[in-house]
Amino acid sequence: MHVLSVSSLKGGVGKTTVTLGLASAAMNRGLRTLVIDLDPQCNATHGLGAIGDFDVTSAEVIRKPRHNVVLKAILSSTWTRGASQVLDVLPGSGRIAGLDRPNPRHNELWRLDQALTALEADYDLILIDTPPSINALTRLAWVASDRTLLVAEPSLNSVVAVRRAVDAFEIVRRKINPQIQLFGVLVNRLRSALPEHNFRVNELDELFGELILSDPLEERSALQQAQGAARSIHSWPGQNAAKVAKRFDGLLDEVIASFAKDDISRIAAREGRTAKTPKNRRARDRDRSIGLVEANKAAVKKNPRQVVKTRTATAIVIEQPEQVVDPKYQSVFEESLRQSMTEKQIKQMRQSIEIKLDEPVAAEDFRRADETKDSASD
Ligand SMILES: Nc1ncnc2c1ncn2[C@@H]1O[C@H](COP(=O)(O)OP(=O)(O)O)[C@@H](O)[C@H]1O
Ligand SMILES: [Mg+2]
Repeated sequence: MHVLSVSSLKGGVGKTTVTLGLASAAMNRGLRTLVIDLDPQCNATHGLGAIGDFDVTSAEVIRKPRHNVVLKAILSSTWTRGASQVLDVLPGSGRIAGLDRPNPRHNELWRLDQALTALEADYDLILIDTPPSINALTRLAWVASDRTLLVAEPSLNSVVAVRRAVDAFEIVRRKINPQIQLFGVLVNRLRSALPEHNFRVNELDELFGELILSDPLEERSALQQAQGAARSIHSWPGQNAAKVAKRFDGLLDEVIASFAKDDISRIAAREGRTAKTPKNRRARDRDRSIGLVEANKAAVKKNPRQVVKTRTATAIVIEQPEQVVDPKYQSVFEESLRQSMTEKQIKQMRQSIEIKLDEPVAAEDFRRADETKDSASD
């Protein structure tokens, strides 16, 4: 089982759309998939056809992450009616908003990870749709994830939004769960005919390097139509829907290839080739499910594109170049920030960042604003 969370600090950029698109691709691929809705707006829940008042939802699971509560909460998506695939939903609820506290306790952040241990053998892929914030719910989703996908629109504020999300993620990774990794940033709702959009995509590329996924998702009304009708994009008629569905197939390939690297490194760790041992419970359980990946390693080497069956998972392993975050992006960003914003704007942006973990976010970025303040008070 592998877990991907989909996040952004802004609403309306396409988190739910991307979660549902990936769910559609995964179902089409035959992966046993669960979508967890942590957004009080419940758009992913509704998009998967789970409409109604449910007594047991993600809110109850986060409050009591016990096996029986998790099992009670899970529903089957209507997308699978008449089909043999497994696509389930752990529905959201407005009640979960009360749990989205800005200063969660450390142990609260492990609750979803704890809940997921019960599902290790039941799913190949778990997708988590998160609320548009970096409070408790997004952070506990990140802690429970193997990878996080950030979504951004090609707009004026996207650089700042991506930067804040990347910084917040890095703090959670360093302080709470070193095993989590940022998968990348998907630019969504691109209208390539608009020069402004192309400018913003180039800007994001320059600042964040390979963290920006190379193939943005275009603006397509088929996505809205399918979501509104609670249908999967793969089942929606028309050429545009087919094009978007194909893009989600490609994105799923990339995600799975990235997970496959974890499997290989866990095997290496188990064989004693690295000193790292999994720290969280779920990672330890997961170790037991990778025997068949191991058995197929030689075959995968021979054939770069091949299905690997594990006892609990089906993964498509595709060899592709390492996805490395450009270590330079930080300094490039700082420089560009200094050139493109007045000191007053930098100060305002600093005040708007409210990541209440135990250290300030990217204090370096704002050195100049601080220096100005210091010299003014001299
Ligand atoms: N690539 C796209 N093309 C067309 N409409 C989109 C696209 N991505 C998102 N939308 C629409 O934008 C709205 C907000 O998207 P949504 O995924 O709900 O955002 P979020 O979950 O980040 O709040 C929805 O109506 C959705 O259908
Ligand atoms: Mg949403």
